[in-house]
Amino acid sequence: MTGIKGSRAPHIIVNFKTYIEATGKRAVQLAKIANQVSKDSGVTIAVAPQFTDLKSVTEAVEIPVFSQHVDSIKPGAYTGHILAEAVKAAGASGTILNHSERRIKISEIEEALSLARISDLATLVCTDTPGVSAAVASLNPDMIAIEPPDLIGTGVAVSKARPELITNAIKRIRSVNNLVDILCGAGVSTPEDVLKALELGTRGVLVSSSVVKGLNPGQLLENMTDEILRSK
Ligand code: G3P
Repeated sequence: MTGIKGSRAPHIIVNFKTYIEATGKRAVQLAKIANQVSKDSGVTIAVAPQFTDLKSVTEAVEIPVFSQHVDSIKPGAYTGHILAEAVKAAGASGTILNHSERRIKISEIEEALSLARISDLATLVCTDTPGVSAAVASLNPDMIAIEPPDLIGTGVAVSKARPELITNAIKRIRSVNNLVDILCGAGVSTPEDVLKALELGTRGVLVSSSVVKGLNPGQLLENMTDEILRSK
């Protein structure tokens, strides 16, 4: 299992989305907090800032930094698009694809995966159903994050509210792919939500609002990593 290169631990990936609390200088501050918690705990934490913050974040931290998307385009005349090579040049080590707030067609997922691989970017594809998870698993991304859109940002964790979605998706994924790392996300807000996700058979979580908009992101991440370490 090598979803994030060089790491075998369960993962926490913090998606900064376009929250103002994680934009510009505040993106760097939050990434530094995640970096410190990861260093202290030994648990892999990755962050996914906006494209415009990639370079300043990658220069400030040692943890993996992901972009939130790349387009299925090659270098050339594509104004306004996001090039995998540019994301790599900004220092990122991976990319999210097909987040429910940035859905793309399956053909674009396939093309973007291949372009990300050429640029040596780890890939995390979001999926919302067991069927879509299996379809994406057949394309061999490094990681899949199962995220039902209706729970995103609610504070109601998928791991507690919809455990059967995760276990069914895991079964369907494993019927076509034994290697891909499986994570889940949507509403994950507490250390117990993370533990539940691990108990259901995932390798970690994709989180956003609870950390980014929380009063004490460092404390919450620390509590989450404590739970991960206790579960080992
Ligand atoms: O990418 C993670 C995300 O969609 C989940 O968001 O705010 O429910 O943790 P949130």
